[in-house]
Amino acid sequence: MSRFAQAVAHSNIALAKYWGKADVVRNLPAVPSLSLTLDGMRTTTEVTFSPELLADELLLGASLQQGKPLTRASKLLSEVRGLAGSSLFARVRSHNDFPTASGLASSASGFAALALAATRALGLQLPPARISALARAASASAARSLFGGFVELAAGAESAERVAGPEHWPLVMLVAVTSEAAKDTGSTDGMQHTERTSPYYASWVSDAPRLFAEVKAAVLGRDFARLAPAVEQSALAMHASMLAANPALIYFRPATLSVIETVRALRKGGTPACFTIDAGPHVKVLVEPNSAATLRSALASTAGVLRVLESAPGPDAAVFDGAFGEPSA
Ligand code: DP6
Repeated sequence: MSRFAQAVAHSNIALAKYWGKADVVRNLPAVPSLSLTLDGMRTTTEVTFSPELLADELLLGASLQQGKPLTRASKLLSEVRGLAGSSLFARVRSHNDFPTASGLASSASGFAALALAATRALGLQLPPARISALARAASASAARSLFGGFVELAAGAESAERVAGPEHWPLVMLVAVTSEAAKDTGSTDGMQHTERTSPYYASWVSDAPRLFAEVKAAVLGRDFARLAPAVEQSALAMHASMLAANPALIYFRPATLSVIETVRALRKGGTPACFTIDAGPHVKVLVEPNSAATLRSALASTAGVLRVLESAPGPDAAVFDGAFGEPSA
């Protein structure tokens, strides 16, 4: 039995946001979320379980990790060891083809790829929902990156579910990158701080299901005019709950607001586009394919935008049985 596997998972951007936990220990989300998996932003992860290792090791790009990132990965690996009845430690090598830890959802694709590679390396053939649940325990948004296309994670759910495949609606997601720096406050700490200190957190949690339902109906009906206001309201209501925290959690930078202005001005002129913002300063702009070029050049010439990444709806996470193999699942 092989103790090595390599997996690829794609990042996802929530159109209806997850922010807040129903159960901190089990990492269950307080609100339902719906995301789009992106073909242009991916993590490749190799896992090797070996009797020669005395502890788990995690290499992200070229840098060996200690502390929180290693602890989180090790926790997931221990879950997998438990399921497989193994006591071997693992060496994990993971590489993103986009900037890490600055609100570009690297933990989502990272933990999805890790859950898939680790289970396969120890010979486990688990159903996607089970792998999604392993990823969710590490980082709830990662549950969604197991699936391609449009994906939901219900409030309190163990695992994510596909809403529609990538071919359902060929939208384009443009990411206006406004900083290369790592963010100060990660999502996990940020949402718990919001829950503890923001008087608007309860309102966010009570209204999020309505916004989720609106986003889901618009996605299923491929109705951009219905989708755009719900996507923006979900992002801005989430950020409003953070802004009212004490001390305030402000992920926006001047360039973030400049991009919002650009998108709103174009929409006023009839271009179908809407924005969303996660726990970082970048702005993700969703657009119909025939307006992607217009949007892309408008974003690139907006003050403070460093570069623009472009993605179509992405595929399911996939495992490679050998380092240079073809995806087999
Ligand atoms: C703003 O999934 O990173 O991107 O479960 O604590 O790891 P943990 O949080 P995480 O939060 C993502 C928050 C978000 C919105 C979203 O992706 O739905």
